[in-house]
Amino acid sequence: MTIPTTRLPSGTAVPVLGQGTWYMGEDSRDRAREAAALRLGLDLGMTLIDTAEMYADGGAEEVVGEAIAGRRDEVFLVSKVLPMNASRRGTIAACERSLKRLRTDRIDLYLLHWRGSHDFSETIAAFDTLMRDGKIGQWGVSNLDLQDMEELVGTPGGEGVQTNQLLYNLTRRGIEYDLQPWCRGRGIPIMAYSPIEQGRMLRHPELRRVADRHGATPAQVGLAWLLRQDGVVAIPKASDPAHVRDNRAAADLRLDEQDLADLDRAFPPPRGPRPLEML
Ligand SMILES: NC(=O)c1ccc[n+]([C@@H]2O[C@H](COP(=O)([O-])OP(=O)(O)OC[C@H]3O[C@@H](n4cnc5c(N)ncnc54)[C@H](OP(=O)(O)O)[C@@H]3O)[C@@H](O)[C@H]2O)c1
Repeated sequence: MTIPTTRLPSGTAVPVLGQGTWYMGEDSRDRAREAAALRLGLDLGMTLIDTAEMYADGGAEEVVGEAIAGRRDEVFLVSKVLPMNASRRGTIAACERSLKRLRTDRIDLYLLHWRGSHDFSETIAAFDTLMRDGKIGQWGVSNLDLQDMEELVGTPGGEGVQTNQLLYNLTRRGIEYDLQPWCRGRGIPIMAYSPIEQGRMLRHPELRRVADRHGATPAQVGLAWLLRQDGVVAIPKASDPAHVRDNRAAADLRLDEQDLADLDRAFPPPRGPRPLEML
């Protein structure tokens, strides 16, 4: 089965299950293995790859460059500019450095990693220039709360935002109260980062119980729980090939009403607004 897709506001379809890269590229001895894991993920259809100039100081982008060499056209490539670089000129320079490390001439979706001191108008102007020059396909944001999003779309050009990448998993449900409905109402998909809470949630007994009922793993249940929702893309990071395969199979796992009710009891949804969490 192929991985389902969701549409960005622009109409571009992206797979709902992709691959993260945080902590890749930290140690040169691990790079070949990490690139191989990403290539395995591509072979299995997880063709959206998320990276950032921040990760391993550019090292993760270099691993991605190695992984996608010779198969760039299969990949929907996402990278991010650091807030401190997100001035008009700084964003363009950062993107050009990322392109070199990624060994490509374009990033499909370029995100502001979190809000910093530069005005949105500066970053948007840079994104527009990069789009005009064909260096990025589209742009989005990450770690923006509801007020930030309202301010962003109220900024000239801000309605071009294609996604908000957010910390979202069973143990981090705060966005369900207001930010996720707001994004859904505007057709802006959420990219759920740390979708298995960097592994910390996998020993939870309820997650294990639901997983056992399906002959699945806790990670698969955590991912399937995200993927059952419209407008959610999950980007688990895996350097271990067994984890890559495990995650891919999550796209085929269907949770039933009993599962969802049990998970809601163990991981309750928010009853009111909560400050946006981030890692
Ligand atoms: N925008 C932002 O501010 C932001 C912040 C955080 C993350 N992100 C993005 O989101 C991606 C994912 O988040 P994350 O890396 O923080 O955490 P994550 O994907 O929730 O967890 C990654 C950890 O879980 C392990 N793992 C993966 N699949 C597994 C499985 N099936 N069973 C058991 N363990 C498994 C990995 O081990 P192995 O590597 O050994 O396989 C790794 O230690 C990042 O890599 C990054 O691209 C974005």
